Amino acid sequence: MKKVITYGTFDLFHEGHYNLLKRAKALGDYLIVGVTTEYYDMQRGKLNVVNPLLERVENVKKTGLADEIIVEDHEGQKPEDIQKMGVDIFTVGSDWTGIFDYLGEFCQVVYLDRTPEISSSILRADKYPIVQMGVVGSGRIAPRFLSEAKFVSGVNVGAVYNPNSQSAQEFGRSHELDAYWGDFREFLEQVDAIYIASPHETHHEYARAAIEMGRHVLCEKPLTFTVARANELYDLAGENDVVLMEGIKTAFCPGFMQMMNLARSGVIGEVRDVEACFSRITQLGLREMRDREYGGAFLEFGSYTLLPIFKLLGCKYESVEFDSILADNGIDLYSKIHFRFKNALAMSKTGIGVKSEGQLVIAGTKGYILAESPWWLTKSFEVRYEDPTRIDKYSPKFLGDGLRYEIADFVSKINGTEKMSYCLTKEESVAMAGVVERFMEERKRRGRA
Ligand code: CTP
Repeated sequence: MKKVITYGTFDLFHEGHYNLLKRAKALGDYLIVGVTTEYYDMQRGKLNVVNPLLERVENVKKTGLADEIIVEDHEGQKPEDIQKMGVDIFTVGSDWTGIFDYLGEFCQVVYLDRTPEISSSILRADKYPIVQMGVVGSGRIAPRFLSEAKFVSGVNVGAVYNPNSQSAQEFGRSHELDAYWGDFREFLEQVDAIYIASPHETHHEYARAAIEMGRHVLCEKPLTFTVARANELYDLAGENDVVLMEGIKTAFCPGFMQMMNLARSGVIGEVRDVEACFSRITQLGLREMRDREYGGAFLEFGSYTLLPIFKLLGCKYESVEFDSILADNGIDLYSKIHFRFKNALAMSKTGIGVKSEGQLVIAGTKGYILAESPWWLTKSFEVRYEDPTRIDKYSPKFLGDGLRYEIADFVSKINGTEKMSYCLTKEESVAMAGVVERFMEERKRRGRA
């Protein structure tokens, strides 16, 4: 019996997929089809798959051509499958010609002609019109957003807004964007969605204006400084039927999700402590150092450190205590925030004038997870136990600077195809605003003392 194997995502199952499976089956007697998981697709940079795995498997099954369907979830799986299952022929479409020649060591490799003029990408583009986006603010993060958005299909960034006409025009010219200043509504009329990357204190006003005009909003952290304002924006987004997402990029990184899921799975027992630190020595002239009201370490980096704490221990803490080292102008150079939960403790450490070890430690009743700097990108982490010789190492795939995952999630939310709203929930985002609110009150009180 001649065994044939082929792999694919098979998203929005189409004629090209059917033809490929039919020809693959005709190469032998028994056809095995590998269907990729969402996680694996994300790892290899395919960020916009619409159908969930089970639906894609079901569609392959319905063709009646596959004798066996397997799931492909990691790089390096193909040679394993081929050897384990005694496969004679590996086949894929001609768009992959050459790429799988290395499998020739294990079996025959056949590239089949691709069906012209049809693909999942074409169907996705037809089904979901390109989301036209504009960027508000042209500071340090804006260029990174533009380059990362290029890796996400279904979105086009074409405009920039900055109240300062010169900044808007310069940024527009250097990034080939239409520049707007002055009337914000005029800018909003040109786009479906905006990314807010302006100074912290302007987030609320821009987000509100955009939502009221029916525009989707991806807003840099912190979304707002108070619970009331965060709730107001989420309620308004609900009433206007638009997506509002706080841009805490860590939440959307595949490695971070994997680490959170592992911590919840019980491998380290019950989670009892989360300690997260983020510090970056910042030059004196920069906004974080100068802005008495909205600068400082915690407002800059606190969203990162609060994220694993709230994800793992929930948003309902019993008590919170703040401690900071303040500069002469009142901003916090270094802040420690201590939380007590029902059965757990947590600590957030942020610094712009103090450098510490930027690590995340999740302590449990059976072991702990250690993610070293930059844990907020989660390129690697370890699970450790009482027995010091036992260490499980994880090195999740991470592409670019991570913003592409956040943008992809935003776009799929707009298209209504998102499967991952658990990455960052409204409750988590509002709870973070709550900590910011209390922190700012405390800092003001101390500054006065
Ligand atoms: N395929 C094909 N003809 C097409 C489209 C796909 O023969 N018109 C083949 C691919 O070469 C691959 C298999 O179908 O062997 C599964 O491909 P997949 O990547 O899932 O589909 P695409 O339509 O190519 O998806 P995308 O547009 O997302 O790349």
